[in-house]
Amino acid sequence: MNTYLTDEELALHLDRNPIFHLIGDAADGLGLEAYVVGGYVRDIFLERPSKDIDVVVVAPQGHPQDAPGIAVAKALVNHLKSEHRKAWLSVFRNFGTAQVKTSLTPQEGEDEEAFTEVEFVGARRESYSHDSRKPIVEDGTLEDDLDRRDLTINALAICLNRDSYGQLIDRFDGLDDMEDGLIRTPLDPDITFSDDPLRMMRAIRFATQLNFQIDEETFAALERNRERISIISRERVIDELNKIMMAPHPSKGFVELSRCGLLTLIFPELAAMEGVETVNGRAHKDNFYHTLEVLENVVRAGAPLYLRWAALLHDIGKPRSKRWEPGVGWTFHNHNFIGEKMVPAIFRNLKLPLDDRMKYVQKLVSLHMRPIVIADEEVTDSAVRRLLFEAGEDIDDLMTLCEADITSKNREKKQRFLDNFRLVREKLKDLQERDNYRTWTNPVTGEEIMETFHLKPCREVGELKQAIKDAIWESRIPNTHQAAREFMMEEARRRGIIVN
Ligand code: CTP
Repeated sequence: MNTYLTDEELALHLDRNPIFHLIGDAADGLGLEAYVVGGYVRDIFLERPSKDIDVVVVAPQGHPQDAPGIAVAKALVNHLKSEHRKAWLSVFRNFGTAQVKTSLTPQEGEDEEAFTEVEFVGARRESYSHDSRKPIVEDGTLEDDLDRRDLTINALAICLNRDSYGQLIDRFDGLDDMEDGLIRTPLDPDITFSDDPLRMMRAIRFATQLNFQIDEETFAALERNRERISIISRERVIDELNKIMMAPHPSKGFVELSRCGLLTLIFPELAAMEGVETVNGRAHKDNFYHTLEVLENVVRAGAPLYLRWAALLHDIGKPRSKRWEPGVGWTFHNHNFIGEKMVPAIFRNLKLPLDDRMKYVQKLVSLHMRPIVIADEEVTDSAVRRLLFEAGEDIDDLMTLCEADITSKNREKKQRFLDNFRLVREKLKDLQERDNYRTWTNPVTGEEIMETFHLKPCREVGELKQAIKDAIWESRIPNTHQAAREFMMEEARRRGIIVN
């Protein structure tokens, strides 16, 4: 992060992309003011790669320009085309906005496919009605426009007009907040959040991505306004949730969501994991915090999005399976299968995809205890083969999840698990090298059995096939057709099945 850039340094930074001067010139030509705003400016100071550029255009008082954002976008495109640049203009007249896409980029010539995209919008003053996200929009000043933004760190603007090129406008001490690592709304947070409740999710998302603290007053407003999240579409909520998931430490976001009460509203199944119950002085662990630890562990192992989801959901069946059994203690029997069954409804409610990605999460939730059970007992060939067979190509992810699940505070116990776990991994590698069990098929088919013994489809055929499979998986015979056939003949004789 570098919050000490002077206006001259900012101007130099902008100069990396020639588009900014061209936008300033287009605005100057029309007597309008243009400012780059929002995420692009924030990311300059955070030294993150900047993405799409948002420009606010202001008509000075008394200037007759209608839809000033569109006017500057058009002037810019005309200029680019006069210089034989590729440029595309999309106008959204109803919103007074326009988008320009051009081949003009910071690193010219390096990447044929690189484009710069700029959104233009007139400065707006918005007011919202209580039960809708649709604002009543009027033309406004730059100040009006910045006032109605979500967070102080997102309410920064840099002037692009030639006379003041590079001048920073920071009405709400956004730079100080950035330095202090503080998430705060520009206006009274009750107004900011009530105007657009998605901003509650954004506040937590930015706090998570940037590892910032949420200012006390802003946080109190999250608690007060949380019910308003109901007017936000679930697609937008899951967008934010996925961004939290992909942050370097997603658990922070879930702790904040829980702390302000949003979690129960958007993801009740996860919220239900929180808390500890005690019977006869015996407490079970808090499954919410355990889950977050597991999530952090898979993140450390470099997990992509849906492996992170599998970690978040691996114990989701625990609240429903929880029992106190006298003489035994707390049990969570079948929580993995209950969890597996809960996944589709959770994905549907959250608007996550209901395709192979969901099936992958279900599979990992269902199998997440298997490697540890194997590691806890004697690590036999057949158990590892069975696991390989069921997990298929997701075996490595399953192992990552399962290892992440070992969060015991008892050092010795943890070490014992990890040692056994290493053994499971070695055996897996060994077996995978010896025979490809991911795509294993029985060398003897049911048809061959029926033909050899002149049988119709019946129980004996299935049993013989199973016996062959067990013999191979338990390494009693090699995984070849010849060995399997010899074993089949012997086994048939033993079972009194005669070739007639
Ligand atoms: N903004 C806002 N309220 C919202 C969404 C956006 O005030 N609900 C404002 C913020 O000033 C934000 C800008 O619009 O910086 C652009 O929004 P967007 O492109 O959605 O997000 P970025 O801040 O650029 O960040 P990201 O791309 O990570 O979402």
